[in-house]
Amino acid sequence: MAAQPSPLRVVSARPAAAAPLLQVDGVSLEYRTRERVVRATHQVSFDVHAADRFVLLGPSGCGKSTLLKAVAGFVPPCEGEIRLEGVPVSAPGPDRIVVFQEFDQLPPWKTVRQNVMFPLVRSRGMSRREASACALHFLDKVGLANFADAYPHTLSGGMKQRVAIARALAMRPKVLLMDEPFAALDALTRRRMQEELLALWNDAAFTLLFVTHSIEEALVVGSRILLLSPHPAAVAASGARARRTQQPPVRPGQPGRGGVPGYRATHPSSAVRRAAARGAVAGTHRAGTLSPCQDRP
Ligand SMILES: Nc1ncnc2c1ncn2[C@@H]1O[C@H](COP(=O)(O)OP(=O)(O)OP(=O)(O)O)[C@@H](O)[C@H]1O
Ligand SMILES: [Mg+2]
Repeated sequence: MAAQPSPLRVVSARPAAAAPLLQVDGVSLEYRTRERVVRATHQVSFDVHAADRFVLLGPSGCGKSTLLKAVAGFVPPCEGEIRLEGVPVSAPGPDRIVVFQEFDQLPPWKTVRQNVMFPLVRSRGMSRREASACALHFLDKVGLANFADAYPHTLSGGMKQRVAIARALAMRPKVLLMDEPFAALDALTRRRMQEELLALWNDAAFTLLFVTHSIEEALVVGSRILLLSPHPAAVAASGARARRTQQPPVRPGQPGRGGVPGYRATHPSSAVRRAAARGAVAGTHRAGTLSPCQDRP
């Protein structure tokens, strides 16, 4: 008799043997002030693979931003190691670009186009002509080609975030790092920006490491979710919540299917919800499911 398929499936489109693009291996991070030492994360480990939309989900103050800054190379681990394509991360680099929550990430004296061009000329060594064409291409992708010559103060918060995303994507980073990029937007704009981000990902299939404290946002944006415990952050649980369907990619303006354009939720999303609702009970990670942890200190 043919074997029955397991109700719990590992939901991953990538070959099992593919090496991770980014490895965070037992990383502890601390801030040292004159008075005290604040431990922001405790022995956090996870792997991010090419084209993952990997979400770090955790309560406010648990250390998500610090972890992202460490991946960006701004904060050195006091324990463990972060590796990008097997090479230890020791400093910031153009292969890891961060989009922050704040709307004032754009130098106000430069136009939108000049903002996107600047790192292309400085870090990627493009000529001004090449950089201008590349900037326009990515501004078009985020729907802002008509605002190329506008100054940031004339844009809304959502538009400024789109420029920051265009600037980051134009750099073609190995990993795009986003720290609550839509948190300061109203609910409707936030939702639209999430869907636009998914549409951009459908187009370019970049690798995304995305920080949020919103369970809803994690479920919309993430293909894999790592749940962090309250401060100091340790891995609480994780799961792959969605897999690509065979349907064609959704374009901006097209309605999504089943809530997330081009994706079908699988049961781990409810497991992530339950784990988060329990207050991030300690757990280890396993693709497609969540399990109680036996080995956390
Ligand atoms: N520059 C700093 N000096 C000292 N402690 C800091 C510093 N920055 C952050 N911390 C502390 O490190 C811990 C983690 O902060 P972090 O900003 O990473 O949290 P977070 O998860 O991003 O929170 P939020 O969701 O509110 O942005 C907090 O206890 C915070 O007080
Ligand atoms: Mg933060």
